Amino acid sequence: MDISMGIFFGSSTGNTEMAAEKIKEQLGQFVSECVDVSKLESAEAIANHDLILFGVSTWNIGEMQDDWADFIPKMDGLDLTGKKVCFFAMGDSIGYPYNFLDAMGELWGVVQKLGTPKLIGVWPTEDYEFDESQAMFDENHFIGLGLDEDNDPEKTDERIRSWLIKVMQDAGLIEVA
Ligand SMILES: Cc1cc2nc3c(=O)[nH]c(=O)nc-3n(C[C@H](O)[C@H](O)[C@H](O)COP(=O)(O)O)c2cc1C
Repeated sequence: MDISMGIFFGSSTGNTEMAAEKIKEQLGQFVSECVDVSKLESAEAIANHDLILFGVSTWNIGEMQDDWADFIPKMDGLDLTGKKVCFFAMGDSIGYPYNFLDAMGELWGVVQKLGTPKLIGVWPTEDYEFDESQAMFDENHFIGLGLDEDNDPEKTDERIRSWLIKVMQDAGLIEVA
């Protein structure tokens, strides 16, 4: 199958990077690049892919991770029309229950204005305990995958595995069982 996927992440202490590497490993040959946005000069590489996976963590009570905050202005003018996009996010649901994964919502807010990308991989909130999040897609779903290395590290691998099945189904790459 001829499809290119790119993973773009920002990570302050390495947790989102670790998730990005696991996702890359599981998607295997589909992934053309897995890049830390702090290492990217320009945002154009993002538009080279059919499916773009964005990884982000939340800091300082509901704030964007630093490298993403620096990189977002570089995405100005990027056209992601016709692209499929999805999000995975790191947060701390016990330490920051009123701002859990907020940056994922903020990043989707930016990305959805870059032409008309199609969001895939929205994810049910039922397995998570938190009070409020700016990363809600609707009442029962996050915009993308939620991960919590601070409190649920043992759930990370399975969450990634099952989310990637959803992403592949939404992308039309595998049949819905
Ligand atoms: C000072 C501080 C503020 C944080 N603020 C939030 C927050 O508002 N919401 C959240 O979900 N997680 C928050 N976190 C948790 C981080 O997002 C979490 O530790 C994550 O795994 C970091 O990922 P990274 O190493 O990829 O940046 C915060 C952590 C620290 C230390």
